[in-house]
Amino acid sequence: MRIVSGIQPTGNLHLGNYLGAIRNWVRMQDDAAASGGQCLYFLADLHAISMPHVPADLGANTREMVAALVACGIDPQRSILFNQAQVPQHAELQWLLNGTARMGWLNRMTQWKDKAGKNREGASVALFTYPVLQAADVLLYQATHVPVGDDQKQHLELARDIAQKFNNDFGTEDAPVFTLPEPFIPPEAARIMSLRDGSAKMSKSDPSDMSRINLTDDADTIMQKVKKAKTDPEPLPSDKAGLEGRPEAKNLVSIYAAMSGATVEAVLAEFGGEGFGKFKPALGELLTHKLAPINARFVELRQDQAALDAILRQGAEKARALAVPTLNAAYAALGLVRG
Ligand code: TYM
Repeated sequence: MRIVSGIQPTGNLHLGNYLGAIRNWVRMQDDAAASGGQCLYFLADLHAISMPHVPADLGANTREMVAALVACGIDPQRSILFNQAQVPQHAELQWLLNGTARMGWLNRMTQWKDKAGKNREGASVALFTYPVLQAADVLLYQATHVPVGDDQKQHLELARDIAQKFNNDFGTEDAPVFTLPEPFIPPEAARIMSLRDGSAKMSKSDPSDMSRINLTDDADTIMQKVKKAKTDPEPLPSDKAGLEGRPEAKNLVSIYAAMSGATVEAVLAEFGGEGFGKFKPALGELLTHKLAPINARFVELRQDQAALDAILRQGAEKARALAVPTLNAAYAALGLVRG
């Protein structure tokens, strides 16, 4: 089992990242240790330059994200934790895969359509070819499983299409160059929505900080955000069907369930018939209680920049060693002469 996943070091780690992806990174790290598997988790700093960015912020956010991931339970001794920019094989393989990826495939990506908006002519080329770099990220390590939230499913399907076409065009039947990766999406928290709008996903790029719970928020801020979260005036239903057509209520109940480890049915059995005046303080307390230890550890870790840099340097060294054989195989399969 080879588990690979990444996160962009733009802004804070939020509850959507945590419940949709990072919690599974930690679980898979623990499972991998028992089964002899290997986990690679990285900061997608090369992806972060596909949108306008401030260079000084990117460096600071990269280190903060390392601190946040370690605070969440990623152990750099057991998992390989690194940033793309220190493993040039990612960008190299992307170029090789650019020959296989089709314009039509990339044109269909919803993230490209959303982020470029109406201004496609003004969007960066990197934003368009972003999913090819993402394919390189996982194919480079022969990933078998990729833990992500639902919004990354389409990019992972594209990575499989690229791998399949490359294997067909340049591999041999008994020696495919790439392993086809499987996305691993949590059934219960695949898509955490904004606290201000039940139809938009919780996101780092939302201009309103009130739309998300950051893992670095203190108790007062969490309580405030939950209290102000958009809801409808009805009490909570007593069964799951009653949440249909109530996206904000569904989101808050899902968050409660995911954070407490209970099913949505169990949460509704407890709170069905109650108004948000009772449910919101309970949710705020649960979040505060669960996030406080992560927050405390984050505050401590972020102070030691040299230690964070050392984690990335050592992680990159291990990642490069694993990346080189696959990259060499891809060069060779394409017939490129390298001395
Ligand atoms: P990013 O940085 O936007 O998000 C990191 C992870 O968090 C998940 N996520 C969510 N899950 C549930 N609800 C939400 N509201 C929510 N918001 C974010 C994302 O699905 C993701 O798993 N392109 C990727 C980074 C990347 C990557 C990769 C991932 C680059 N290369 C290779 C996997 C494999 C991204 O921008 O994720």
